[in-house]
Amino acid sequence: MKVSVIGAGNVGATCADVIAHKELANEVVLLDIKENFAEGKALDMWQTAPINMYDSRITGSTNDYSKTAGSEVVVITSGLPRKPGMSRDDLIATNAGIVKTVTENVIKHSPNAIIIVVSNPLDVMTYCAYLTAKIPSNRVFGMAGILDTARYRAFIATELNVSPKDIQAVLMGGHGDTMVPLPRYTTLGGIPITELIAKERLDAIIERTKKGGGEIVNLLGTSAWYAPGAAAAQMVEAIVRDQKRVFPVCALLNGEYGLNNIYLGVPVVLGKEGIEKIIELKLNDEEMQLCKASASAVKEVMEVLDKMGVTA
Ligand code: NAI
Ligand code: 2OP
Repeated sequence: MKVSVIGAGNVGATCADVIAHKELANEVVLLDIKENFAEGKALDMWQTAPINMYDSRITGSTNDYSKTAGSEVVVITSGLPRKPGMSRDDLIATNAGIVKTVTENVIKHSPNAIIIVVSNPLDVMTYCAYLTAKIPSNRVFGMAGILDTARYRAFIATELNVSPKDIQAVLMGGHGDTMVPLPRYTTLGGIPITELIAKERLDAIIERTKKGGGEIVNLLGTSAWYAPGAAAAQMVEAIVRDQKRVFPVCALLNGEYGLNNIYLGVPVVLGKEGIEKIIELKLNDEEMQLCKASASAVKEVMEVLDKMGVTA
């Protein structure tokens, strides 16, 4: 099993480290455009193997995609991160060019790969990778929902002073301020969260979740990496171990939730085929309205990409 991670920056290196640490692949290739950067990070990680007791081989490459050839899964993290004051959408022009070139190279050397996109603006970069890769959409999808749900679950765990392991939640929509955490589908050990947290407190947690990425950008001056890297690795795990896990994933919708030709966060079953099923929840009117508003926000950015002609 071979997994490649493109972009050896904060998110990519963290993701590769988790993949190796969990022995999800016997070969992990880290690739970056910056001279010797991926080689250096990979060497440092490989030297943790005798300490952390794993044997996944990690190697690095400066833009040589032949090293990634035959990858079963490729995670794309290359691209600029946000700086304070920027929205994810501000990254579109630069990152679309990067994601397009990277996807072309990935597919050329690993035509059967499953591609997980992480670069922002996430929903639109995933659409960009899909248009470029020209492979079925069950094999091109994006990571955002696991991260956003993890933030939501972590905030709830703090609020109730309970283990985050016991909080289950669904979150839908785009990876931006319009994302839609769903309290009706949030439980603590099977107990509806709405029975345990007062509405005003839960509303505040939802607002904090929506702005969770920005909170870290303001603290660090760049965007998060531990949780995003671990989240992308969790998707890799579900695929390579054919776990059929149920996660919120940025998936191409063709009729589901009444939406067409749009990448948006929805619950899916993730296994060896990639997205094996999109789960259609019976949303109430308010939830559906919020999802539609989020879809409109994503569509606007998709149109910007279409007008740029990057994927033509
Ligand atoms: P970073 O700046 O630490 O790393 C990005 C890496 O991409 C750099 O090492 C850079 O040299 C490399 N790169 C740039 N162009 C390349 C190319 N053409 N080919 C190969 N490598 C190239 O950034 P970080 O923090 O790792 O974030 C990466 C991306 O992930 C950003 O777009 C960020 O906004 C996004 N992100 C998305 C999240 C999500 O939930 N979907 C969460 C966190 C970050
Ligand atoms: C995050 O949510 C910025 O998308 C990045 O942390």
